[in-house]
Amino acid sequence: MIAIGSDHAGYQLKKEVIKWFEDNNIPYLEFGCMNGESCDYPLVAKEVCDRITSGNAELAVLICGTGIGISMAANKIKGIRAAVCTDTYTAKYTRLHNNANVLCMGGRVTGAGVAVEIVETFLNTSFEGGRHQRRVDQITSIEENNG
Ligand code: RB5
Repeated sequence: MIAIGSDHAGYQLKKEVIKWFEDNNIPYLEFGCMNGESCDYPLVAKEVCDRITSGNAELAVLICGTGIGISMAANKIKGIRAAVCTDTYTAKYTRLHNNANVLCMGGRVTGAGVAVEIVETFLNTSFEGGRHQRRVDQITSIEENNG
């Protein structure tokens, strides 16, 4: 299950990604702005990331104007490793090396064609483990010790 959410600035791109989920029979849960009206991205980040921490979703996609604000909010939540991606290389390596569980994108930055390829790469790439596990554990340790 994939959770997806956006604020108003990410709304159109969220709809494009959801269309791709539907065309590819990928189950999803939608959150955040349900139309073009203004809403606050930190609240959307919390709503979506709660689905991951509760085990109801495996991965998530968050979209705001730049992808940055919503990633900052998401990364404050224990257990969340959110990565802003604007290309497929970073989407691939943030799964392989960082075990990122939330993909963030900017609706005012990335076009729908590239965004869908980024999402596809993110969903189809698995964590490599090995030496990267130690580093992800170090990130978790920083999180658990409040910096
Ligand atoms: C909303 O105008 C915009 O600030 C927000 O979508 C996001 O880009 C913040 O990082």
